[in-house]
Amino acid sequence: MGNYRAQGFAAGLHKLAIVAFFASMLLVSSLASLEVGYYESKCPMAEKIVRRTVVKAAARDHGLAAGLIRLYFHDCFVRGCDASVLLDPLPNNPSEKLSPANNASLRGYEVIDDAKAELEAFCPETVSCADIIAFAARDSTFITGGLDYSVPSGRRDGMVSIDSEVVQNLPFPTFNAEQLIKSFAGKGLSVKDMVTLSGAHSIGVSHCSSFDSRLYRFNATHPQDPSLNHHLANFLKARCLPSSKTVRTQTEPTVPLDIKAPNHLDVKYYKNLLKGKGLLTSDQTLAGSRSTLGLVIDHARNPSKWKEEFAAAMVRMGNIDVLTGNKGEIRKNCRVVND
Ligand code: HEM
Ligand SMILES: *[C@@H]1O[C@H](CO)[C@@H](O)[C@H](O)[C@H]1NC(C)=O
Ligand SMILES: *[C@@H]1O[C@H](CO)[C@@H](O)[C@H](O)[C@H]1NC(C)=O
Repeated sequence: MGNYRAQGFAAGLHKLAIVAFFASMLLVSSLASLEVGYYESKCPMAEKIVRRTVVKAAARDHGLAAGLIRLYFHDCFVRGCDASVLLDPLPNNPSEKLSPANNASLRGYEVIDDAKAELEAFCPETVSCADIIAFAARDSTFITGGLDYSVPSGRRDGMVSIDSEVVQNLPFPTFNAEQLIKSFAGKGLSVKDMVTLSGAHSIGVSHCSSFDSRLYRFNATHPQDPSLNHHLANFLKARCLPSSKTVRTQTEPTVPLDIKAPNHLDVKYYKNLLKGKGLLTSDQTLAGSRSTLGLVIDHARNPSKWKEEFAAAMVRMGNIDVLTGNKGEIRKNCRVVND
């Protein structure tokens, strides 16, 4: 009898194990199935080719590293990391590139083209444009921040790109902390991810139109944003004259997002915020809100910890709505869908 019960128990355990096994398989397959080293057997040189291309481009123009990190963010937040941001506009389809958030400011497209051309010569129709963007963002982080990290890959490229989806999915530079938190939460990213990734604004530039409302038309009683450091405000006013333009132009002046060290990806950004020296409203608000100030202080104090967390948050951002398996395609040319 005892024996019978023990057998029944063992059989029950066995069944439980089988159920648990299939349940875990289901769980795994419902998660993004990206993996580190995805191209190791398919195209062993893939990541090296992208790295070489990005290093060469950044040596020519340092701003391209900033451009490529931003390109990754703008790709992943709109339709997931599917390279929809790279599709050229067509007469009947104004693509993401023409959105006011991207037009005349997003840069680095040619670097991706160069890497893709070389990859097509080595291993045709194998490496997705979406993965090239993710590798290039990692390589740009390495060049400007000195920290290398592994990038899970195996993304496939989307076939759709719609200009109006950009402003519906990307946060605006006028957002406050609450709005930023909500925007990132909508993409499965935490408050901490949001504050950590905002540190990307320690490199690169901004056009005047992205922040000049803080200088000249803040509100009815204060033309200038009181949270903006006065010395910085004066510097910015000399660079960005009052203008009624609401659409960015190519000839509009630019200002470094971090004026002191625009080519170094580092925690200087957070130190600046604590002195009222954030350039965008969406930057300065992080030091002005209870829900984010603690994280700003933490990052400002722990440079190496921030860098590790930045890399981890970049990887998490790279999981947003990815296409894998037989979804999407591997584009031959990153600017057009295959025919
Ligand atoms: C938190 C919400 C964010 C907002 C509202 C925002 C907004 C902006 C704006 C308005 C600019 C300047 C564009 C221009 O006028 O030329 C900019 C630049 C930039 N952003 Fe963000 N951004 C955000 C988060 C991020 C994230 C998560 C990353 C990447 C991890 C990123 C990376 C960059 C970089 C590197 C630049 C400089 C680009 C260049 O020099 O070409 N941003 N951002
Ligand atoms: C303008 O902004 C200041 C500083 O944030 C605030 O004290 C003031 O109440 C605002 N005025 C109006 C009319 O919104
Ligand atoms: C995009 O930017 C270019 C260059 O400044 C400008 O000529 C063009 O009108 C802009 N297009 C849109 C749709 O905003």
